[in-house]
Amino acid sequence: MDGNGRWAKKFDHPRNEGHRNGLTAVRETVEICSNLGIKALTLYAFSTENWGRPEDEVDFLMRLFEGFLRQELPTMLKNNIRFMIIGDKKNLPDFVQEPLKEALEKTKDNQGMVLSIAINYGSRKEIIMAFQQIVKKIQEGKLSVDHIDEKLISGHLYTSELSDPDLIIRTSGEQRLSNFLLWQSAYAELYFTETLWPDFNRDELYLALETFSQRERRLGKV
Ligand code: FPP
Repeated sequence: MDGNGRWAKKFDHPRNEGHRNGLTAVRETVEICSNLGIKALTLYAFSTENWGRPEDEVDFLMRLFEGFLRQELPTMLKNNIRFMIIGDKKNLPDFVQEPLKEALEKTKDNQGMVLSIAINYGSRKEIIMAFQQIVKKIQEGKLSVDHIDEKLISGHLYTSELSDPDLIIRTSGEQRLSNFLLWQSAYAELYFTETLWPDFNRDELYLALETFSQRERRLGKV
């Protein structure tokens, strides 16, 4: 979800105004995807590198996340959405912990779309964590080296309960993955749009999905 800062600049607003409008695009995207029957939607909200932003911006983003959790929980329950986060939740501020726990707990048995927010997420850190867990199990004699395969590694990532993504959308004209789902995106279709995240709406989403539907996915075969 890139381009909030540039969106704000365009209108001569402070950067945080871009994030606030980005949240509106989040709400709309979640609603449309859930109604379309999309099985899983993962939104990259805050990377492990984003802690390096000014303190007031980090705080604003965390407050937005807290507000999102509190306000959207009833809608998630109504729409049978299961809420998850990917990333390290223990470093998130205290004020996020309680609404986060509640959203995770109350939606855990929902069978509709899985909505994951990537927060304090970094794909390389995730892969390191998986390595550490696997090596520990080997040292404890619970696993042998021969057991290491793609399924085992996938099973030790934050996304262990999710399928690999079919489509990754990045807004704002940047054409990189920026440490997002590096292992999981091996066969994902990538879609880049110049649209800044706060302007991402139904038409933009439909265009991305239509483009995706026309891609020929050979998955390495002929
Ligand atoms: C990147 O744009 C965006 C972020 C780091 C924050 C994304 C957050 C939201 C969309 C709102 C909050 C979402 C939830 C789920 C609570 P940027 O700020 O780097 O934009 P720029 O590259 O134009 O400066």
